[in-house]
Amino acid sequence: MTRVVLSSDHAAIDLRRAVADHVSAQGYEVIDIGPQTAESTHYPLHGRAAAEAVSAGEADLGIVLCGTGQGIMMAANKVPGVRCGVCSDTFSAAMIRAHNDANMLSLGARVLGEGLALEIVDAFLSTEFEGGRHATRVGMIEDAS
Ligand code: RB5
Repeated sequence: MTRVVLSSDHAAIDLRRAVADHVSAQGYEVIDIGPQTAESTHYPLHGRAAAEAVSAGEADLGIVLCGTGQGIMMAANKVPGVRCGVCSDTFSAAMIRAHNDANMLSLGARVLGEGLALEIVDAFLSTEFEGGRHATRVGMIEDAS
């Protein structure tokens, strides 16, 4: 079963829970590492924690969320082997899997409504990496880090 780790900051707890329920209902194993309260916190901590779970092989894919999706994405991408993109549309969510072999998706809870966010999650999870020439380019990303 594909394991999906989720984390967020305080700005995205409600959307993270909606994503967790949605992903779980589709048969994925959800590893929700919080936080569990709406107390103000720091997105770099939560982005790194989810990214480290992916990097360590404890999860296959990750979904992180903050107000914009930007800060937590930046933190996640500091972890070796992680390729995380912010998406606000379904086309990009499919393409970061198909062409960039992204293993993490970032969402902005202050940017997206829940309906669109869940469609973006579906596009991300249902798309496979195409490999081929894209594997060469992804390798170049990894070589540069
Ligand atoms: C927190 O207020 C906010 O800065 C954070 O959720 C995120 O948008 C940062 O990128």
